[in-house]
Amino acid sequence: MSTINMPELRIDDLTARIPVVQGGMGVGISLSGLAGAVAKEGGIGTIATAGIGRLEPNFIEDVSAANNRALAKEIKRAKEISGGGLVGVNIMLALSDYGELILTSENSGADIVFLSAGLPLTRPCNVSVEEFQNFRIKMVPKISSARAAKLIFTYWAKNFKRIPDAVVVEGPMAGGHIGFKKPDIDDPDFSIQKLVPAVVEAMIPFREKFGKDIPVIAAGGIYTGEDIFEAFETMNASGVMMGTRFVATDECDAHPNFKQAYVDCKEGELRIIDSPVGLPGRAILNQYISDVANGIKKPYTCMYQCIRNCDIKNARYCIALALTDAAKGHMQDGVTFAGSNAWRVDRIMAVKELLDELKSGYEQAVLAATT
Ligand SMILES: Cc1cc2nc3c(=O)[nH]c(=O)nc-3n(C[C@H](O)[C@H](O)[C@H](O)COP(=O)(O)O)c2cc1C
Repeated sequence: MSTINMPELRIDDLTARIPVVQGGMGVGISLSGLAGAVAKEGGIGTIATAGIGRLEPNFIEDVSAANNRALAKEIKRAKEISGGGLVGVNIMLALSDYGELILTSENSGADIVFLSAGLPLTRPCNVSVEEFQNFRIKMVPKISSARAAKLIFTYWAKNFKRIPDAVVVEGPMAGGHIGFKKPDIDDPDFSIQKLVPAVVEAMIPFREKFGKDIPVIAAGGIYTGEDIFEAFETMNASGVMMGTRFVATDECDAHPNFKQAYVDCKEGELRIIDSPVGLPGRAILNQYISDVANGIKKPYTCMYQCIRNCDIKNARYCIALALTDAAKGHMQDGVTFAGSNAWRVDRIMAVKELLDELKSGYEQAVLAATT
């Protein structure tokens, strides 16, 4: 039992007992099961919206309607599982229906929306500046540079008369799509150790002008309680976002084969791939990604341009389909996104056990630093 507690994470008027945010993971990796379990234990659970409509039987008839229907159901279920805990929603800016998904999140009882894969410089359609100012849901962009953070906050302050409620800084060690050019991924100048303090500093004028705290949440490559301590102590973060570790949990919504791929993955088996959405992504090496890298086209029919900037004409594969197939357990027929630490996963555990391990690692790091 830990006696030294991690600090709480406050986002505007919300408080998470544990400063750990489970990052949204599509397609179908973090839904209500995982998000609800993390929220129940005092962290912030996040439902990923990418491809969420695939849960609905008549998905193909009207993809956007299916996405929004499925999201409302998943939020309701996660809130029920959480017993009053904090449930977030991850919406990629690149999704064709991102505005509608924000409105569904606001209207269905989610607490926070994490906006990723782009600069959120527009309001959801049909929402006035005044309504947007008074949104109940907390708005949190996920960015990869202090420049992007400054740009978003300046734009919101000027055009929306409000600023986001917190910011996630995701570094290049993260799983999923990553917001860096390939040559920058291993450059120490782009590490979270450099990026997070720069964003904390960039937030000072906004904190002073708006008279509110702007928590900065570090993401990408955080694996242990000791890492969480480092994020607080040396990066000045107020919280952490973790994805990879939550994949290897009983409650994760992916097929057991997906979780087992993490357990089986060895050091040196992670690859940076070119995703048709125009960003690099990190995934576990398999036949599928070798084939694509060797120029083999994977047949697909695009039913709906789910990602606005997807290069459908020239894409060698459909990323949404490849991620869905992996999430369903067809490990050689899809793409298994994973963070740079996935090879360290050696077993699958309950969310509670994982969080207890993180708390105890944090406590040991505090003791080691103070004795
Ligand atoms: C399997 C997987 C899928 C992901 N999908 C998304 C996504 O749909 N949207 C998003 O913003 N981030 C996505 N991410 C990134 C996570 O939300 C989180 O920021 C990241 O995993 C943190 O780094 P870590 O994996 O090293 O802990 C994904 C990550 C993984 C591992």
